[in-house]
Amino acid sequence: MFDQKTIEHFSTLETPFYYYDMKLLKKTLDAYTKELKKYDFHAHYALKANANDRILDLMKEYGLGADCVSGNEVSLALRSGFDPGDVVFAGVGKSDKEIETALNGGIFSFNCESIPEIEVINEIACRLGKRASVSLRINPDIDAHTHKYITTGKSKNKFGISHWMFDDIISTLRGCQNLDFAGLHFHVGSQITDLNVFKMLALRVNEISKAFIDKGMYPKNINLGGGLGIDYADPDTNPVPDFKTYFSIIDKNLLREPGQSVHFEPGRALIAQCGSLISRVLYVKIGKGRKFAILDAGMNDLIRPALYQASHKIDNLTSSGKQKRYDVVGPVCESSDTFGSNILLPETGRGDLMAIRSAGAYGQVMAMKYNQRDLAPEIYSE
Ligand code: LLP
Repeated sequence: MFDQKTIEHFSTLETPFYYYDMKLLKKTLDAYTKELKKYDFHAHYALKANANDRILDLMKEYGLGADCVSGNEVSLALRSGFDPGDVVFAGVGKSDKEIETALNGGIFSFNCESIPEIEVINEIACRLGKRASVSLRINPDIDAHTHKYITTGKSKNKFGISHWMFDDIISTLRGCQNLDFAGLHFHVGSQITDLNVFKMLALRVNEISKAFIDKGMYPKNINLGGGLGIDYADPDTNPVPDFKTYFSIIDKNLLREPGQSVHFEPGRALIAQCGSLISRVLYVKIGKGRKFAILDAGMNDLIRPALYQASHKIDNLTSSGKQKRYDVVGPVCESSDTFGSNILLPETGRGDLMAIRSAGAYGQVMAMKYNQRDLAPEIYSE
């Protein structure tokens, strides 16, 4: 939550803006890296969740590598000083130019998703006289029990290589003289709150890892991706995700072959709770049977509610009036520009400061200029 001094500071600033509580971020990273070390696991921060300079610096300080999904993310990670040996590059559609960028950067691993992609990486590596280390992203056909737009591990999804392709992919890899097989990669979805999903994943990984070993392909690295969810409903009670239970479930269920190292790609779980979108109420408008609190922040600043029906907690930071119900909406010309319907808030009026919570991940980084609106800047607590 926000103390009085912070709220007073907010009241001097132009809205909307993203606010990052660096103390909470450090606390989260302390908790995460403590568990990680306990099991000798490795983590690559998923830049897609939030790629602000200050955030990347801190991730690096805590010893995390980088998980990238575009050539520009790879370049940014390298420019920001991440060790190339800790950078992984995933994505179903890597362009030739992006592959060249990553090869020239000497990254740790390409997480590959199809036969033609592997062939193209090999061709480009041959042309540049480089070797590429390649992990195979496997589609384990596991339901992550999350929103369908952020489910990635079911066989109908575009992601990963399904088990019926294993023999073909292995023979393709064997024929690629400039590629080295680095291991297996998995990522079954995001905002996963049912931890049993990670148990199912670990058990499936054991079977798949063994199938590769039996075929003479030893996966030195097992990458389980990201996906751990956070508490959007109650960020004050649960500001830091339960990393302890998460990692112990993985440790208990994942069989580690000798010499194998285990990797993760956390995004949301690290960065979501420390960020809020701070906005002012422009008007309160009376509608039919409802009141609209119209903010100066919109879906262009935070698209998650419009895109995934995501619900972020909304706090009025400056009113302590009687609780009333509001539809909290933005100014953009779309009815989906709604942050919450029929939600209880202290009596709200023009000029009140509002915090849309848990917006540190997939918030600022997905912002756009629709309606020619300005991009909200960021401020940090420190
Ligand atoms: N690794 C891979 C291969 C991924 O595709 C993702 C996220 C991650 C790691 C990090 O996942 P996380 O730990 O953050 O769940 N924009 C959506 C989320 C999209 C996630 C895409 N992939 C949202 O706002 O909910």
